[in-house]
Amino acid sequence: MRVTIDQIRKKKARGERFAALTAYDVVTARLVDEAGIPLILVGDSLGMVVLGYDSTIPVTLDDIVHHTRAVVRGSRKALIVADLPFMTYHKSPEQALESAGRCLQEGGAQAVKLEGGRAVAETVARLTASGIPVMGHLGLTPQSIHQLGGFKAQGKDVERARELLGDAHALEEAGAFAIVLECVPAELSRLITERLTIPTVGIGAGPFCDAEIQVVSDTLGWFSDFVPKHAKQFAKLADAAAGALAEYVNDVEAGRFPTEKESVPLSEDVLRALEEGGGGR
Ligand code: KIV
Repeated sequence: MRVTIDQIRKKKARGERFAALTAYDVVTARLVDEAGIPLILVGDSLGMVVLGYDSTIPVTLDDIVHHTRAVVRGSRKALIVADLPFMTYHKSPEQALESAGRCLQEGGAQAVKLEGGRAVAETVARLTASGIPVMGHLGLTPQSIHQLGGFKAQGKDVERARELLGDAHALEEAGAFAIVLECVPAELSRLITERLTIPTVGIGAGPFCDAEIQVVSDTLGWFSDFVPKHAKQFAKLADAAAGALAEYVNDVEAGRFPTEKESVPLSEDVLRALEEGGGGR
């Protein structure tokens, strides 16, 4: 049985902080799931850390559905949240319903995430009324980088901070079960966290949120093009992999790999018969 949105909500009531992570493939999903992480996001960050785009904007619904299926196959317990990509929910609540429906039916996710506040409240209400749990996402919303003027912290002045508070209330009222707060000042996320009954899930939002989410490739030091200020590398997998690959190349070139240990043996009889009798051409 997977973690339910009710269990996620209750964590806040009990004052239980929790860690969430992204995953995009079977192997990572298995590791994250086995670490006891209750919520895995198949984030559209996959566009940047897996597919090599310089933003999340080119990610398609097919990409998310495809990777969600892998993450679902690799996990048993975590709640799987699929990220709705750019322009797959903006046109109308009906479009959002169709996109989210694919994430659940084809992808096997239990919930979806979408970016925005009051502007998407009607859509969130429509999805939740149709039985599709929704996680909101406020602050630095990467699908709007062109509107925001880049990957910048949000909510630093009174007007924008008030706007974010209002957006958070609107998402809660519309039925969201949790809200990601990305790159907002710590004290603002503390205020939002105190005023909501649903969990806030911070990333670059300081220590006062009910939960923390990170991009798994940053956390494990796998994506090394750049390390966001809010990330901490708990391992250096890219360095470890580079070392291992150099050793592989050296061993192959020097004839140290493969050895008999990695080879399929041929019985003495067969070998003798071939050597004595010829055959083949
Ligand atoms: O796409 C993603 O990975 C996200 C997280 C940063 C919350 O939206």
